[in-house]
Amino acid sequence: MDRQYPDGRGRGASSAGSNRPRRASLPADHSAASDQPRRASQNLPRPGSGAAAGPSRPSRTEADAVTATPTPLNPSVAGTFRPPIMEARGWMAEADAATLARLINVSQAAPIDPPPEGLRHALADAALNRPEAHLYGPVLGNDPLRAALAARWSERSGGAITAENVAITQGCNQAFCAVMATLVGAGDEVIIPVPWYFNHKMWLDMQGARAVPLSCPQDMVPRPEDAAALITPRTRAIVLVTPNNPSGAEYPAGILAAFRDLARQHGIALVLDETYADFDSRTEPGAAPVHDLLQDPDWGRDVISLYSFSKAYRLTGHRVGAIIASPERLVEVEKFLDTVAISASQMGQIGALWGLENLGDWLAGERREILARRDAMAAALGGLPGWRLKGCGAYFAWAEHPYAEDSSTLARRLVREAGLLLLPGTMFMPDGSAEGARHVRIAFANVDRAGIADMAARLADLGGARLVAGEAPA
Ligand SMILES: Cc1ncc(COP(=O)(O)O)c(C=O)c1O
Repeated sequence: MDRQYPDGRGRGASSAGSNRPRRASLPADHSAASDQPRRASQNLPRPGSGAAAGPSRPSRTEADAVTATPTPLNPSVAGTFRPPIMEARGWMAEADAATLARLINVSQAAPIDPPPEGLRHALADAALNRPEAHLYGPVLGNDPLRAALAARWSERSGGAITAENVAITQGCNQAFCAVMATLVGAGDEVIIPVPWYFNHKMWLDMQGARAVPLSCPQDMVPRPEDAAALITPRTRAIVLVTPNNPSGAEYPAGILAAFRDLARQHGIALVLDETYADFDSRTEPGAAPVHDLLQDPDWGRDVISLYSFSKAYRLTGHRVGAIIASPERLVEVEKFLDTVAISASQMGQIGALWGLENLGDWLAGERREILARRDAMAAALGGLPGWRLKGCGAYFAWAEHPYAEDSSTLARRLVREAGLLLLPGTMFMPDGSAEGARHVRIAFANVDRAGIADMAARLADLGGARLVAGEAPA
């Protein structure tokens, strides 16, 4: 069937969808928590997550419904972990009704409120009155949105970004997948600081590529010299998320420039996921750009930036993100996007453009509120005996907990005993990582200052065996 584009072009035969049945088909929902991600092919309880911390009543999740391993099966897909949501649903089932009624959910890396009313009206109007809102669009995105984002990115970066540097994707996750598809093949390596954003790791696994963990020092800012030691002939890219999920760290301009130099020296790419750029504490009006990478006339050789409209404009469900890269790179990206999506959602793109054009002041207010919550979070954790805040920014606090149990066991207990849903560090670290066991991620974007104080009080009241200084984790 031919596809009609808004410019009237018809396209050759291509299928818009797939009939393949999906296994365990829950979306990768970041609004809920996970235990240590589990291998798809091992639907088994993990050591340490069983009877001792176990549920008083069994939970039924989709995970339980998967009874047999299908064949044939791509080992690269089978080998990665499942979306975290099933485990978190299990934890909720372990809590009693009264506890659930007062649940504080700090697992969410997504705004839960709808977009501002003006944006919703724009979407409703488009749905009713703009026929093209229901059609496929150009593969790399609608020209007005590409141009508007290019202008925003030029302003933000001090560079000269044009619409030809911008591709619109179905969210930043797809942007990452598309970019990685152009960079790596099976057996190639990508260096990623740990803790990492788990979907980055999952995609690289599924591509048959190797995610090479780069440890961060105590300030959670990765060091280029540590990355240099990890580069091999198979390395294709370094991926940095700034501000970072899950650590909240905002990477200094000098560090980013040094990473770029390293990438250039080795002929590899530097991929920046800037999903949380709008909530960076360093972007006061009139402030210098948080990095100068895009001011380099040659930036397109090695730098690729990714963006999401999900957080800034509360458009998570509409799936809109972007890639900022050289036009040559986008020629390759276009092949991927055409095959997996044809185009990003028209409604999402209309909403994103409306947001860019109309919500500047509103977004500035959102940013101030998030930064105030960040301060409240830092103060609350700073006052908790035994807890150590390692990073705090964007939507996230990354903290070392004082308990003897590992973070995945603690996270389940927190739901049952404190009515607090957060994510264990194990979810953001390679299997078996001691650092993952000692840390948790608290996503505070949806909790106001009173809620943060309540959360801190619950943590202060939590019983349980604590580590004494210097003792190894249980
Ligand atoms: C670092 C990072 N990148 C990408 C995404 C996904 O964004 P999108 O909704 O645009 O796919 C998230 C969402 O949690 C994220 O934290």
